[in-house]
Amino acid sequence: MNILVTGGAGFIGSHTVVELIGAGFEPIILDDFSNSDKSVLQRLETILGRPVKHYAADCNDAALLTRIFKEEAIQGVIHFAASKAVGESVEKPLLYYRNNISSLVTLLEAMTANGVSNFVFSSSCTVYGQPEQIPVTEDTPVQPAASPYGNTKQVGEEIIRDTVASGAPLKALALRYFNPIGAHHTALIGELPRGVPANLVPYLTQTAAGLREKLMVFGNDYDTVDGTCIRDFIHVVDLAKAHVKALELLIKQDTHNYYDYFNIGTGRGTTVLELIHTFERVNQVKLNYAFAPRRAGDIVAIYADVSKSVEKLNWKAEKTLDEALADAWRWQQTL
Ligand code: WQD
Repeated sequence: MNILVTGGAGFIGSHTVVELIGAGFEPIILDDFSNSDKSVLQRLETILGRPVKHYAADCNDAALLTRIFKEEAIQGVIHFAASKAVGESVEKPLLYYRNNISSLVTLLEAMTANGVSNFVFSSSCTVYGQPEQIPVTEDTPVQPAASPYGNTKQVGEEIIRDTVASGAPLKALALRYFNPIGAHHTALIGELPRGVPANLVPYLTQTAAGLREKLMVFGNDYDTVDGTCIRDFIHVVDLAKAHVKALELLIKQDTHNYYDYFNIGTGRGTTVLELIHTFERVNQVKLNYAFAPRRAGDIVAIYADVSKSVEKLNWKAEKTLDEALADAWRWQQTL
């Protein structure tokens, strides 16, 4: 079954391409390489022992989408392509609404017009904001978004929900990712942040590699066991596998009126300091870090309740934090 993977050369997309082929699907990548590297295609070929077809283009190109859907007999779409830097989204909201919202609308229009009915959307735990209770279930209320980026994920979910509710020929799942980390065990694909990483693990591995002087831990006076923030760090390969399960669940639905959303995390909360100490222990590396003031807008603590994913998606994360941090370090050392 041919599946269009938008953003398939990116961090989560590339790992998902590997898992899709492992599960017998035929992924076709659509990526404009604006935030990914073309070398990923060759790297995927090395991992898979065969090439993966790709189109180097933007998802906002309706005519191209229609052509791909027809010529490739596409039966499902996994939509990763999006801009994802929270800070940048505050400075350039329209860029985010174009890249994340216009492209989603274009894609859904092209899908429904061409009889492509299975859709998996990359959403985020950011929709929960700062929850009153943790862990968060899918019933935890969604909170007003703190950034244009976060808003694109909330509005994206609503656009999909409304489209399905309208009776359009669409079946859709939104996956609410927690914090993806790690890399493929071959160290051939992984996260490739451009410029100074905004996220914890790439900053940490670059510091351990001597590319950055010191990791600043933003805030050690929060109301948590060690004063640092709590996140649910999930190995990117586990996250990739959730997409295969999502497709399988969509394909099983025989009516079109189907939309659901799932938490994709490990179900474990880890503090920033625990993550640092785990990294040091697993990789036998000493990390240069220091405490700094809180980062504006940070959520204090969040992690997933994954009961619904276990029960309905038949998925759960299998890899440990140790494995994820060993893989992240192995990948960093190849860069
Ligand atoms: C994790 C923790 C930081 C860097 C991101 C996205 C969000 C959503 C989830 C996608 C925080 C601390 C970080 C550093 C630090 N993604 N930190 N020093 O905040 O959970 O959010 O992932 O949809 O939209 O923004 O991830 O990796 O930035 O931070 O101390 O140099 O690490 O303060 O507590 P976060 P993160």
